[in-house]
This record gives sequence, structure tokens and C-alpha cells, in this order.
Amino acid sequence: MMMRSTLLFVAMVMVMVSLVVAAPIQSSEENHLEKRGKKTFKGTATWFLPASEGGSTGACGPKENNHSPIVALNRPQYGNTSKKSKWCGKKVRITGPKGSVTATVNDACPECKHGDLDLTPVLFKKVVGKMDKGVGKIKWHFV
Ligand SMILES: *[C@@H]1O[C@H](CO)[C@@H](O)[C@H](O)[C@H]1NC(C)=O
Repeated sequence: MMMRSTLLFVAMVMVMVSLVVAAPIQSSEENHLEKRGKKTFKGTATWFLPASEGGSTGACGPKENNHSPIVALNRPQYGNTSKKSKWCGKKVRITGPKGSVTATVNDACPECKHGDLDLTPVLFKKVVGKMDKGVGKIKWHFV
């Protein structure tokens, strides 16, 4: 009897330890992935004309035009759009129905939702294609 309750106790302790240990491992793995840029975001791609819509200077600072390989990051991820974001200058790998491109974050998209990116026409053509439709589903991650 004594033996059995000791075994039961040991088993319970092991279950509790594994529960306690499992949770932090998962979240630190997630942090790790985010830092390494492996976290994939899903959203809607749109396109814009920096020269006439965004202004020739992006929210991040550097100049941009309709042929620049740059994207505007949605406001929830960008942060305060009147400041330079920590994501400014970071590269993103974007995949859509038509193909994949690598681009640089140089602007903020105030009306975009979390996961959305606003692309220059040159990029949108390669990733989504349909310029007249103007929107497409994308997946992307920081590289
Ligand atoms: C955004 O940044 C500007 C300039 O530093 C500041 O004045 C403003 O209060 C900030 N807005 C928010 C919501 O933090």
C-alpha cells in the first residue's frame, strides 16, 4: 500500500513538472522564431503609388518611388506612424498567388490591418498580378 501511493505520488509530480515545463518551452520557441524572422504572417496585399499617395519619403525616412522594392507595413505592426518603427529597413519575404519577392519595410500603412502589406506596383505585379483587382492574399515573414 505504501509502495503504491509513493508511485502514484511520483507519477503525479512528473505530470505536474511536465505541465509546468511544457508551457515556457512553447512560448520561448515562439519568441525564438519571431526573433529569427521565421514567424509567418498572413494578410491582404494592396498596392500604392508612393510618388502620389504616400509621399516621396516613407514613414521610415528613405526616399521611395513607384519602382522601389519597398512595402508599407500595417499600422498595428508598424507602431506609431509618426515615428521610425523598429521594423524600418527590415527585409520581408512575401509570397502570393503569382510568386515571391523580397522587399524592404520603408513606410507605414495606416488603414491596413494586422498582417497586411501595401506594396509598390512593381512588387504587387510579381506577387499577386491582378493590378485592376488590387488585392490579394499573401503570407510573409521577416528575413
Ligand atoms: C507618436 O509619436 C509622436 C512623435 O514622437 C508623439 O507626439 C505622439 O504622441 C505619439 N503617439 C502615440 C499614440 O504614442
